[in-house]
Amino acid sequence: MVLVGMMGTGKSTVGQRLAELLERPFVDSDEQVEASTGRTVREIFEAEGEAAFRRCEAKALAEAVGRSTPSVLAAAGGVVLDPANRALLAGAGTVVWLTARPEVLAERVKGGEHRPLLADDPLGVLRRLSREREVLYREVADHVIDVATVDAEAVAHQIAELVGS
Ligand code: S3P
Repeated sequence: MVLVGMMGTGKSTVGQRLAELLERPFVDSDEQVEASTGRTVREIFEAEGEAAFRRCEAKALAEAVGRSTPSVLAAAGGVVLDPANRALLAGAGTVVWLTARPEVLAERVKGGEHRPLLADDPLGVLRRLSREREVLYREVADHVIDVATVDAEAVAHQIAELVGS
């Protein structure tokens, strides 16, 4: 099963807890990118640009989706941009979209080191990206959960019930 959604929705925190509840391995696409390239997300953005990062991201997603053991995958916010990634997600089991208003996300992402896109004007960027991506998250999602007023523990339990733990 896969968690998608904007930066700051808690995909990694929820995903780790959910993986414990479902007794499945947890995979985080940003961590996979960092492990396979030996560079941080920020370094890749700075040295090679966003397009190069997106290529690494697509590779990490394909590897994660192709695993034979069912896992809980926290897919980085931008994976839905690439139509090939969206096609992969369609065959990747249950996809849950975690969502919240940009104002809520802006509060949550303060201090995030792996989010170079939010270096300047985080709220403005989150508003724009949310607007641009909403239709894409909707396209891949089987379920939508608004995380604005619920903590990660509650979200993880809600999803565990959805996927039938
Ligand atoms: C991005 C989300 C980040 C990271 C990179 C770009 C995006 O991951 O991959 O900063 O374009 O939404 P998280 O969604 O895990 O924060």
